[in-house]
Amino acid sequence: MDQQRIERLESSFNLVAPRAQELADRFYALLFARYPQVRPMFPDQMNDQKQKLIASLVLVVQNIRTPDKLLDPLSQMGQRHAGYGAAPEHYPLVRDTLLEVLGEIAGDAWTEQLNGDWSVALDLVSSIMIEGAKSEAQTA
Ligand code: HEM
Repeated sequence: MDQQRIERLESSFNLVAPRAQELADRFYALLFARYPQVRPMFPDQMNDQKQKLIASLVLVVQNIRTPDKLLDPLSQMGQRHAGYGAAPEHYPLVRDTLLEVLGEIAGDAWTEQLNGDWSVALDLVSSIMIEGAKSEAQTA
């Protein structure tokens, strides 16, 4: 990932971060409206889940300059996701819903370029998670 893309990811995340709660609320509302088949995979009570999603996005953006540090946590997250029933074909649904909601929250600041930046970043995250799900469970 080149330097300029990294800078755009960081600054756009800083822009939406003050509205992270709204982002998470809207993300799950839209995900479940578009893809009702995934709703039963999630707990009834979504408050904790929303916080965890936000925390995972913060982790990704904070470590985007040292992506090696993301490999272990994201692989392990992918392993846990296999246990939740998440399959590779679900990842684009999550990516596209997140892109749409990021765009809603960023408003006029959202551009095609940013959409592409976030699409690349979320595909990277997804591919590490999917690879992690294929490997043996680790205790670390
Ligand atoms: C960019 C991709 C994704 C990110 C960053 C992400 C992030 C998270 C995080 C941080 C958690 C909290 C629990 C944990 O860390 O294991 C979680 C839980 C969960 N995720 Fe994801 N997720 C992603 C993709 C997906 C996909 C594709 C699905 C499939 C529909 C999915 C379904 C779930 C479910 C069902 C739970 C809740 C499990 C439970 O508490 O019972 N996630 N996700």
